[in-house]
Amino acid sequence: MTNITPQPLMSYWDYEDGNETITADSFDSDSAYDDGGDRPVEDLTLLSHERANVCKYENGRRYHRYHEGQYAFPNDNQELDRMDLQHHISNLVFGGKLHFSPITTGEGDPSPILDIGFGSGIWAASMAEMYPHSQVIGVDLSWTEPIWCPPNCRLEVDDCEHDWLYKKDYFELVHIRYLNGSIRDWDRLFQQAYRHTRPGGWIELQECDIELYCDDNTLPPDSMLLEWFVLINKAATASERPFIKTQHFKSWLERAGYVNVKDKLFKVPINRWPKDKKMKELGHYEIMNIAEGLEGWSMALFTRVLGWEKDDVLVYLEKIKKEFRNRKVHAYWSLRATYGQKPMDSST
Ligand SMILES: C[S@@+](CC[C@H](N)C(=O)[O-])C[C@H]1O[C@@H](n2cnc3c(N)ncnc32)[C@H](O)[C@@H]1O
Repeated sequence: MTNITPQPLMSYWDYEDGNETITADSFDSDSAYDDGGDRPVEDLTLLSHERANVCKYENGRRYHRYHEGQYAFPNDNQELDRMDLQHHISNLVFGGKLHFSPITTGEGDPSPILDIGFGSGIWAASMAEMYPHSQVIGVDLSWTEPIWCPPNCRLEVDDCEHDWLYKKDYFELVHIRYLNGSIRDWDRLFQQAYRHTRPGGWIELQECDIELYCDDNTLPPDSMLLEWFVLINKAATASERPFIKTQHFKSWLERAGYVNVKDKLFKVPINRWPKDKKMKELGHYEIMNIAEGLEGWSMALFTRVLGWEKDDVLVYLEKIKKEFRNRKVHAYWSLRATYGQKPMDSST
């Protein structure tokens, strides 16, 4: 992988909305100049490297243009805010743990940590704050100005599916979170991570199954919710980045050479249906996450791959959102942390 440092000023932005190309001035609610949110308005001078600077607007959402089309989900402020909310959900699920791998960090111990697909940068920044003597490097197809970033955290634009140029036997931890549906070749990714991890270092995945579970038959087999899951899985598979059943990751890590591979499975209710106070709180945040995320998760896959029109997607998603809010349906997603170690005697 190559490292990209943001360079001064870009030359133009063009936005596409369906067949129409519109300018920044004519763009309103999704304008990069002011979206009315708390996230800082994007600074064009920071987004301006020739590979990273030009974003694509489509059907009202913003997408990456570096290696365009590879990642089917938006990179706009609405999505970045949702990622921060999802980080909070992960913290609730994992009891505040940022990772389960028993990594070695500390003063004098060079222990770089790599975060693949850093998104809003919140995990990388949190790790850098927790381990001030470690260097945390984040890579992503989109560059983001994080709301806050400690000095030992560095964010770079890069494609993790390309050859990595980092030193071999280097990282203490390679972290991958919520990239399910974004990766074409997981085996290759794990092989590269293995090569660039120091002997005794770790890899950790925190991934969601894109399936719905229900233990008490309150989810009818003809539910529209299940139909949405079928459609989104079909589209992701057709785009050659399928949603993987997370139970496979353990054996795939072992196949790449990792040992001591462990697996932890957690339930995340889709809304406030549980009686248990903690699970109800989790469901409270999850339904917000779903309401914010549904359009971004669906729009490009439904329009680009399944051939739907934007308005039809929006109308359909309103119905799906309503179904997700139904507390009579006791459904949940599963979130799995899988982590493994590169053997001590395995210098590459
Ligand atoms: C759903 S977000 C998760 C963000 C972050 N890991 C988190 O947990 O908050 C997935 C991120 O992976 C990035 N991504 C997808 N494919 C990638 C690739 N091939 N190389 C680098 N980043 C990638 C996307 O741009 C997006 O920011």
